[in-house]
Amino acid sequence: MASKGDAVREKLLELLQKNTEGYTSGEDVSRMFSISRAAVSKHVGVLRAQGHEIEAVTRKGYRLLHKAELLTEDIVQQGLKTKIFGQRGVHYLPSVGSTNIEAMQLAFTDAPEGTVVVADEQTGGRGRQGRTWHSPLGCGLYVSVVLRPDIAPNEAPIITLLTNVAAAEAVYELVGILPVCKWPNDVLIEGCKIAGNLTEIFLSGDAVGHIVSGVGINVRPLPKKLVPDLRTAPCSLEGVAGKSISRVELLQAYLIRYEHWYMLVKEQGFAPLLTRWKELTDVVGKELTVQVRGEAIKGTVTDVSTDGMLLLRSKSGVEHRLFSGDIL
Ligand code: BTN
Repeated sequence: MASKGDAVREKLLELLQKNTEGYTSGEDVSRMFSISRAAVSKHVGVLRAQGHEIEAVTRKGYRLLHKAELLTEDIVQQGLKTKIFGQRGVHYLPSVGSTNIEAMQLAFTDAPEGTVVVADEQTGGRGRQGRTWHSPLGCGLYVSVVLRPDIAPNEAPIITLLTNVAAAEAVYELVGILPVCKWPNDVLIEGCKIAGNLTEIFLSGDAVGHIVSGVGINVRPLPKKLVPDLRTAPCSLEGVAGKSISRVELLQAYLIRYEHWYMLVKEQGFAPLLTRWKELTDVVGKELTVQVRGEAIKGTVTDVSTDGMLLLRSKSGVEHRLFSGDIL
């Protein structure tokens, strides 16, 4: 149930939105809502914590620079044309450690396939190989889905490729630029990382129990101080598109593309997905080095196997089947 404070903030936001060219004075707001100036400043603080960017200038007042979009279940489901993904629960969290961990916990308590967890901010966002996925408030789309596929554990890398394809196609829908998929999990635009995914598999005996597939898509530029930390230079959708991007539309596009490929894999096996992934990647035929658990393996990529492994032939003719690794 919305509190009295929520109602004031909603009205305050509307007011600021009507006057983005100028400033709205704190005094006017305090008079309008019959609250103290201190209360006005508190409400502005809460709105900022929700991801709205509000400038405050002494003797002028407040100005809305960027309105954050909420990713609540009813907003995400409005007009969402999927049958499963996002229709069986969208768990929206303003802030969470990691959406993957949250989704894992839900999966262990029987959350159905297609359950979605999305957050405005992750305080412990996880990347591959134990890296951190910087997830500041409102900068990206941080989303995880619960899957219960009928596949063998050694076929699970296919889910990483599927997530890659869904993210690349969603990006294309929003900005009209087709990204490149870099094995195993990066999505790039002109060599810069726009998205990455982390797929985590949970075994039940020797079968796949469930999978949590999480993707992070950079929507707004990361604060500069976080960039030097990264292996591949990042870019953002708003940066490449030169316009503001709706995270709600991006999430909807992603879930639609995800469902499309997931259902196709169920119906027709991995072949159509692999064909699509190969259209989106530029690694096949390239000579490169892949770092696998501290070892650098050099060779030419001959193909991706039917279950999603990278096939790398070294000069001596040895063929490596790589489950995971980092292309250097
Ligand atoms: C990588 O490129 O290293 C993978 C990044 C995956 C980040 C996403 S954001 C949503 C989900 N929750 C996490 O903690 N990680 C994934």
